[in-house]
Amino acid sequence: RKSRTTMRILITAGPTREYIDPVRYLSNESSGKMGFALAAAAKRRGHQVTLIAGPVCLATPKGVERIDVVSAREMLAVLRERFKDADALIMAAAVADFRPRRRLRGKWKAKEDGGDPSIDLVENPDLLMTVARRKGVRKVVAFALETSQGKRRARAKMAAKNADWIVLNGAEALGGDRTSVTLMDRAGNELELLDRTKVQVARVVIGLLE
Ligand code: CTP
Repeated sequence: RKSRTTMRILITAGPTREYIDPVRYLSNESSGKMGFALAAAAKRRGHQVTLIAGPVCLATPKGVERIDVVSAREMLAVLRERFKDADALIMAAAVADFRPRRRLRGKWKAKEDGGDPSIDLVENPDLLMTVARRKGVRKVVAFALETSQGKRRARAKMAAKNADWIVLNGAEALGGDRTSVTLMDRAGNELELLDRTKVQVARVVIGLLE
């Protein structure tokens, strides 16, 4: 069944990469599978979908507009531009919180430098906080991956980032096709989905927006 109103849904997926030099970077284990499943599920419901993807090895779901980015700051630039005319945003991307202060133009010769090598880090902007601060009536879904005190931390993040819902998952979700999540809203409701496929979870999340 097609949804009654077609929405323009913006989805971020995958990790970001923060380069140290031309061949080395800081990143994380995100596979992008949850974000891509969300894009496919939204498209299947008849929505207009734009997927902003970090570096991942996944095929673009049919009919979905995809914009590839590498770093958190590149993702933010595209997000700012595209959030303007979106009805909803789903932030499934695992954005790197920090980046190396400098990206060296040539390879880092740590051994030649001598001493204990270290990388100076600076904080990346919080993408979701930046764009969702003035979200108006647009609907926003955040994600949280926690390994302890998940519900408390997820609830705090949902509020701090001005999201309408947050999808809490654990580290078991990384890379696999299945996951267990808790969907939380601002009113205090919680819905647990235990050991589902990411495709099944995606359908439920898109249903929240409709
Ligand atoms: N997020 C973002 N910009 C960032 C970091 C995170 O927009 N710089 C978004 C993610 O896309 C996700 C949510 O915020 O929707 C997750 O927030 P958070 O848990 O703060 O990110 P973590 O890096 O996992 O935070 P922490 O290290 O504190 O667990």
